[in-house]
Amino acid sequence: MSLATLAARPTDGCGAEIEGLDGARASDADIELIRDTLAQRGVVFLRDQKMTPEEQIAFARRVGPIVVNRYFPKTERYPEIAKVEKRADQTTNIGGGWHTDHSYDEAPAMGSVLLAVETPPSGGDTLFADMYAAYDALSDGLKATLETLKAHHASAHVFGEGSVYAATDQAVLAGHKDTPEAVHPVVIVHPDSGKKVLYVNPAFTTHIVGWTREESMALLGYLYEHAIKPQFVHRFQWKPGSMAIWDNRSTWHHAMNDYQGHYRLMHRITLDGVKLN
Ligand code: SIN
Repeated sequence: MSLATLAARPTDGCGAEIEGLDGARASDADIELIRDTLAQRGVVFLRDQKMTPEEQIAFARRVGPIVVNRYFPKTERYPEIAKVEKRADQTTNIGGGWHTDHSYDEAPAMGSVLLAVETPPSGGDTLFADMYAAYDALSDGLKATLETLKAHHASAHVFGEGSVYAATDQAVLAGHKDTPEAVHPVVIVHPDSGKKVLYVNPAFTTHIVGWTREESMALLGYLYEHAIKPQFVHRFQWKPGSMAIWDNRSTWHHAMNDYQGHYRLMHRITLDGVKLN
């Protein structure tokens, strides 16, 4: 299909769906549409993708350079593709809380290309929240204060030894020694859109630089509650072949864990990013 017939339709709260785009056979104009939509809306949703792992890798590479995630189990033959998997006998899922990937890196991953391989009969949706909109809705006074602040982000408490995953049946994600930390502005200028974005998240932000943990939690707690108001959130229902491509700088996501006793498998490719200002 040509660009003339394809358009991104904003989805409630966050993101946009592009109907009729076949990622395995995308034109340059299709890729440009995906990139523009990502910069503006934070997530692109595609349906009915029939991609082999090789095709998913080739498609992802056209959206952005691939970076291999340190912690996630990889598919046997393709190190670029991480398995986001929950077996029927497991009770903990991966990504089951609000977060944005890799904020603990100096140059956080730009985004991810997540393809649903096997989905439960119901449940297993993913929530996406729009951090442009969350920032825009704050008062001018709070925005001005936030723009003077930096926040510290860490990974050890999630992926290190004795981390939150360690005592669960997803312990394969824990026990890592390579656990980076980074400091980023609380409000960043998005590298592609030039718009301001709220850049803290409940999973990896530990505190505001120069503030105590207690002081930090009071402010961060307010922002976290604000950022997931229903008007900023889209709930995406997966079927095998559904794909979400998201921008980590302008969105958060949260994988719902409401399908106990059923299998869910997603193939995730992470896209490399730049240092944030
Ligand atoms: C993640 O990358 O956090 C997992 C998202 C999902 O499984 O829906």
